[in-house]
Amino acid sequence: MSRYLLQNSDIGLRLVDRFSRQHPLHISFSDAGFSYRLKRGGGKKEMIAKAVGVKPSLRVIDCTAGLGRDSFLLASLGCEVTMFERSKVMAFLLEDAINRAMANERLADTASRISLVHGDAIALLGRSRTPHVILIDPMFPIKKKSAQAKGEMQFLQRFIGKDEDASGLLRCAIATGSQRIVLKRPLSAIELDGFTPSFSLKGKSNRFDVFLQ
Ligand SMILES: C[S@@+](CC[C@H](N)C(=O)[O-])C[C@H]1O[C@@H](n2cnc3c(N)ncnc32)[C@H](O)[C@@H]1O
Repeated sequence: MSRYLLQNSDIGLRLVDRFSRQHPLHISFSDAGFSYRLKRGGGKKEMIAKAVGVKPSLRVIDCTAGLGRDSFLLASLGCEVTMFERSKVMAFLLEDAINRAMANERLADTASRISLVHGDAIALLGRSRTPHVILIDPMFPIKKKSAQAKGEMQFLQRFIGKDEDASGLLRCAIATGSQRIVLKRPLSAIELDGFTPSFSLKGKSNRFDVFLQ
């Protein structure tokens, strides 16, 4: 019996972990928590918006789409976002969530500014038009129980594991010559592979390292 099961349900596609009592993983851009996050200050006060330097029509590649939250937030602020996701299952869940957002009058405009490509960003970056901004948010190492990620991110950590090649991805992003690369890291993490950012924005548990070139 395989542990994970991709299931069609009345709310859309969801991923079930048969070894856990946790809710199945389901991506929705219309759930109450995320809608509140989008509305709060129009999202512009979000650290990620400042790190990316959002403005309308900014072309952003999100190399690590995951649950698509960062991409959707940036698209809601007018950015044109291309998401890369290498997990086929996550890409299915994202595609399903974007299709539902396209059918939702309130979200369709934002969803229309997002495109999704399934594949590894390390390969895809070299074949893409250089964007204004590249965003990288790799899976962090799994923490001790007391400081574990919650909810959906905890599910994702279990399903995906740690992204061991994050420094290779950062190196590829820098090699594209993109003006701005934004790397999300745990607050106390050391610089990735000795790359020193131009500046960092610090939150309660994470920080954004920004590389300007
Ligand atoms: C921490 S999650 C990103 C969460 C995302 N920022 C959000 O707002 O939901 C990391 C995701 O990036 C994906 N990923 C990591 N390295 C990648 C790569 N080189 N190419 C494509 N996807 C990658 C993983 O499969 C995982 O789904």
